[in-house]
Amino acid sequence: MISFRAEELLGDAGVTPPAFDDVLLVPAYSSLSSRLSSEIDLRTRLSSTFRLGIPIISSPMDTVTESQMALSLGGRGAMGVIHRFMTPERQVEEINSILTTSQIGGGRPPVAFAIGVGKSEKIRFDRVYSQFPESIDWVSIDVANGHSEYMLDMLRWVKNRIGNTANIMVGNVATGDGYKFLADAGADAIRVGIGGGSICKTRLMTGFGVPTLSSVIDCYRAKANHKYDAAIIADGGIRYPADFVKSLAAGADAIMAGRMFAGTIESPGEIVLVNGVRSKTYRGMASREVQEDKRGGLKPGTCAEGVSTHIPLKGKAHYILDEFSGGLRSALTYCNARNIRELRENARFIRMSQSSLDESHAFGTKI
Ligand code: IMP
Repeated sequence: MISFRAEELLGDAGVTPPAFDDVLLVPAYSSLSSRLSSEIDLRTRLSSTFRLGIPIISSPMDTVTESQMALSLGGRGAMGVIHRFMTPERQVEEINSILTTSQIGGGRPPVAFAIGVGKSEKIRFDRVYSQFPESIDWVSIDVANGHSEYMLDMLRWVKNRIGNTANIMVGNVATGDGYKFLADAGADAIRVGIGGGSICKTRLMTGFGVPTLSSVIDCYRAKANHKYDAAIIADGGIRYPADFVKSLAAGADAIMAGRMFAGTIESPGEIVLVNGVRSKTYRGMASREVQEDKRGGLKPGTCAEGVSTHIPLKGKAHYILDEFSGGLRSALTYCNARNIRELRENARFIRMSQSSLDESHAFGTKI
């Protein structure tokens, strides 16, 4: 069977850059006897000082990550980034809650919080960071287009402030050039993906974007060719464990997801009845609804680049983590990989047709 290394998928001019549903991974000989084998290791390295037990991070969104989510994921080896659509004082309370609750339960989960760019966000950073200079693991600088002058200014400013006492995550970018730009400026981890989020309208409103899988491949090519250390976080459009596995196989060190955790017990927001189904709101941070709630409405001359929806209640976030880590464990056994590095090395992709995509879904229930 002719199959391709991830970087070959972006090879020839005229070949369409793939999205998750355009490719499959080809099973190969494996000596791993069981997905529960003690040889299998899901850990990932996100910086020289920081590792995650499971390569999954929840998005800094107001319907996804506050302290409850960060505690639940952090207690199981993953991580949540506290969103920035609240006052700095409330961010301080959320972080306090992570630190004090985890003291009761034992073991400290990672502490990560998001900021934006510009003067008011520098003030936010100082107010929050100064309260916990020794407990913050990650500062996430969170803007729509991270390949930008204003991101560079903010990244340099934060780096100057904190030195190496905490890691810096930045994004988002969609290309290897964007990755290099931020890696050169000293970012520890870079969020990769523009326009692929399930609540995102950027591609419809602007015509700009790159399939998240193709962005990851392009960034990993830049990382490998130039020997950069900055971790790649595939962000946006993860629906199934398969998308998670394909992201890691293409070069991501972790994924970030919003929808995956929206509608869980730990996600912020009231439970509402939608057509009789208990649900929670999940909304893009650039949606009209967020602008109206947080900023008094859309500014004249601007448009919403996100949407708002409802997600039926899913139960606890750890069920989702179990499902995704179970999918990853099983994936490793299909290509004789004991860890994420070996998955990346062993992975061979084929392109999929619409009929193979149809065949991939559990169609037995429909016939
Ligand atoms: P999801 O997991 O597919 O739902 O995508 C979540 C990701 O979408 C987040 O981590 C952000 O990178 C991105 N995102 C969040 N809000 C918006 C928005 O309003 N417009 C575009 N992208 C968004």
